Amino acid sequence: SAMEDWSGRAAIAKKLTQFLGIRAVKVVTGNCDMDSTAKSLLGLEAANQFIAEIGKGKIVAVTGGSTIASIPPYIVKNDDMRELLFIAARGGVGDEIGLQANVIAASFADACSGTYNTFYYPESLRLEAHEAFRKEPSVLKMLELYDKTDCVLHGIGDAQTMALIRSSTEKKQLMLQECGAQGEAFGYYFDKNGNAVHRIRTIGIQTNQLERIPLIIAVAGGSSKTEAILSYMASAPKQTILVTDEGAAIEMLNRF
Ligand code: G3H
Repeated sequence: SAMEDWSGRAAIAKKLTQFLGIRAVKVVTGNCDMDSTAKSLLGLEAANQFIAEIGKGKIVAVTGGSTIASIPPYIVKNDDMRELLFIAARGGVGDEIGLQANVIAASFADACSGTYNTFYYPESLRLEAHEAFRKEPSVLKMLELYDKTDCVLHGIGDAQTMALIRSSTEKKQLMLQECGAQGEAFGYYFDKNGNAVHRIRTIGIQTNQLERIPLIIAVAGGSSKTEAILSYMASAPKQTILVTDEGAAIEMLNRF
């Protein structure tokens, strides 16, 4: 029955919360590798977590990807959430347009009657150009906003899949394999112990800035992301709330 289903997922969530040592885990039905309903459920659950906690006048950073993109349609505005400012958790271009962090920030702003700042940053810059670009006023303004960010909503990617999507060179893919990269978030790649082993040449929120951000919601599901989620969670800030699905949650429990 639905009742037993729920207690099953609640029990899994409770165990996972302990194992991962984070604030909370929410587990939705299904496996989003197999069915798109599960991804919608992730969006719905993440939207509910966000709505319940966000409040007024906050700066909210969001990442790109199909999972975070599934959240705004489920946001039901309430009187508590006013004057929110949405920003991309890192500058970027080159992802599929609807899945770019800037575009997702705009849909969040629309759903919450808030505002957004766009931040475009080419990932293809050579080191010298990157060093020059990062002193631009628009970049410095973003860095200031990252220091003042109150909430982060982020996806977690499988390292090899992300490297492929970003059409990295074969050399780069091999490098990521060799340094044991399993998960990716905010442009950082993490090994199985949660060490950041590589970072995309970009401007974005830094892992050390996450520590003081009170509300962090990580949203990732599908059994194919088991290792990726575990690798990121090995060093995730303790206040993180993970919204995942049964596909990933059951596999994660099997690893402990
Ligand atoms: O950073 C992680 C990826 O953007 C996640 O993408 O939600 O489409 O799997 P996805």
